[in-house]
Amino acid sequence: MAGFPAEMLRLNGICPYFSMFPLDFPLAHLSQAGPGEWVLDPFCGRGTTNYAARLLGLPSVGVDRCRVAVAIAAAKMVQVTPEEVTALCARILQGGADPVDVPTGPFWDLCYHPDTLAEMCKVREALLRECVTAPQIALRAIMLGALHGPLQKNGAGYLSNQMPRTYATKPNSAINFWLKRGLKPPRVSLLEVVSRRAHRFFATIPPRTPGWIMEDDSRRLDEHVFPERFRWVVTSPPYMQMRNYVPDQWLRNWFLGGPPNVDYSYEGQIGQLRGDAFAAALAEVWRAVSRLCAPGARLVVRFGCIPSARYSGAEVLMRTLALADCGWAIREVRSAGPSTRGKRQAEQFGRAGTAVEEIDLVAQLEA
Ligand SMILES: C[S@@+](CC[C@H](N)C(=O)[O-])C[C@H]1O[C@@H](n2cnc3c(N)ncnc32)[C@H](O)[C@@H]1O
Repeated sequence: MAGFPAEMLRLNGICPYFSMFPLDFPLAHLSQAGPGEWVLDPFCGRGTTNYAARLLGLPSVGVDRCRVAVAIAAAKMVQVTPEEVTALCARILQGGADPVDVPTGPFWDLCYHPDTLAEMCKVREALLRECVTAPQIALRAIMLGALHGPLQKNGAGYLSNQMPRTYATKPNSAINFWLKRGLKPPRVSLLEVVSRRAHRFFATIPPRTPGWIMEDDSRRLDEHVFPERFRWVVTSPPYMQMRNYVPDQWLRNWFLGGPPNVDYSYEGQIGQLRGDAFAAALAEVWRAVSRLCAPGARLVVRFGCIPSARYSGAEVLMRTLALADCGWAIREVRSAGPSTRGKRQAEQFGRAGTAVEEIDLVAQLEA
């Protein structure tokens, strides 16, 4: 990405998320922003728009209904050094009593070495008690990124037995997979993993800009919470006809205080809705967002539908803006082009072999 040292872009990859757009998408649009213009992403996911805003020195707010997303995105806003994060982790591991809440059963026995699991639970409990300072927020996101992934030869990559890094395998499939191949969980030093990741992700970060990330339903945003009117909204709503991906993040959800099993009860996810209900929900968001924006504000949306859907992504999105009927005038609609080597949101969704047609739309709030 032109103009930024590669090390400064690393923080954006601190933890994968199930549906993310590449950093160059928000960067390309926000590079046209004037100094001090506030940026909003009402479906912020892992905070790609917020990190692009920070790189460009712009203040921003991110909103998401999923606590995993919020925890990852929040780490992109903090100012912290690798040493501060590592020292916090060491203090947690050295101090206090043993963890009280260590999950048991065949999945946990096969996924984590018992000593690694005990360390993980100690850090989990400390961060569940308090996670407000920059080192705490950074450590939490580092833990989410390290929780599961492929086994590595040097043994210090991820904390788990063999697993994908983007999503957590469901317990029964994981158990079968490990037993069939005789795979044992590695003894990994949590402090080593955290220290290496802290240096990788936080050694070179851009200066902090004003703003925050909040866990909320974007249909119900309260305009009194925000100090300034937004000039930019750069976002990617959940794609229509895509199933709820929150259960795929069940281990990260557990780390953040969820149950130690797959949680299907997550509410408020717009992507679970179908047809008219989906369009009405998205229209509600565009209305809520318009109340937070200054006249002339730009709305930039990347959106997609699976090809078998009755309507194209462009048709669905334009319908939601027409339904919202609150002054968003469409200026441009174009194809997002062919996907590029796994970086595109479509490919994240497409791991089951489903290609997604994506479009980019730009609208402007009429005065
Ligand atoms: C396509 S993803 C956004 C990905 C993001 N652009 C990134 O790069 O990580 C859509 C997001 O919308 C969130 N979401 C779904 N329903 C929501 C709602 N009612 N309010 C706020 N966020 C919601 C999902 O949790 C998901 O993180």
